[in-house]
Amino acid sequence: MNYKTIKLAVASVALTLVCVGLSSCGVRDENTPGVEYMPDMYRSPSVENYGWHVLDGDTLQNAMLPVKGTIARGYMPYTYENNAAGYEAAGANLKNPLDMTHRAMYEKDGEALFGKFCVHCHGATGGGDGKVGLKLPGPPPAYDGALKDLPEGKIFHSITYGKNSMGSHASQLSTEERWKLVCYVQKLQGPKGGADSTKQIAAVATPTTAHAAAGGHH
Ligand code: HEC
Repeated sequence: MNYKTIKLAVASVALTLVCVGLSSCGVRDENTPGVEYMPDMYRSPSVENYGWHVLDGDTLQNAMLPVKGTIARGYMPYTYENNAAGYEAAGANLKNPLDMTHRAMYEKDGEALFGKFCVHCHGATGGGDGKVGLKLPGPPPAYDGALKDLPEGKIFHSITYGKNSMGSHASQLSTEERWKLVCYVQKLQGPKGGADSTKQIAAVATPTTAHAAAGGHH
């Protein structure tokens, strides 16, 4: 092999490389990446949310609801229905599944959640005098007033499904978080026995009494 042939060979290899390089730039469809070197770096094996996949010859959409009648691992379905009968049944039968030896801890967690999700309507002490609550057509009743004897099942049921102007919190709060909130609401209910509904009426009817009285006496 003489010097000239080597030069020619090198030149043709270089030319080929330039051609390959240019052809990868001039791809017509701008959505294709052109020539892919090590394509496994481009094409991730992950399943895309709204794509399709093939399983045993069936083409299935990725975002599918669970098969009817099945229960996802680690998930307990809530069986009380969102109606008056379900509400009463929850009140009678539904009990807090959390281990009550840790009650103080749950109340603390519940208090933090209450500050994020509930306080603007229910007020800091659950008196129904939150800034948003007072603007509602029917402000929330006081936990230690009309709601003093509300059983834990009903508290959980109402947090889960909502009630009148209170929306459902099932999508924002896990089951465990809702039960922690039940612990905290119970703390705000105070000692059981003797619903004091007059307290609630006072808070709802004259929310600014404290200010008015303070102003009037000066
Ligand atoms: C948009 C304002 C609003 C928010 C936010 C809100 N509530 Fe309420 N809540 C209400 C109103 C209004 C009522 C009274 C509903 C009725 O009986 O008409 C109520 C009622 C309740 C009751 C009594 C339910 C019953 O069965 O009588 C409980 C318990 C309760 N709320 C807990 C909570 C907790 C815990 C949170 C936070 C996760 C929360 N609420 C968030 C407005 C709100």
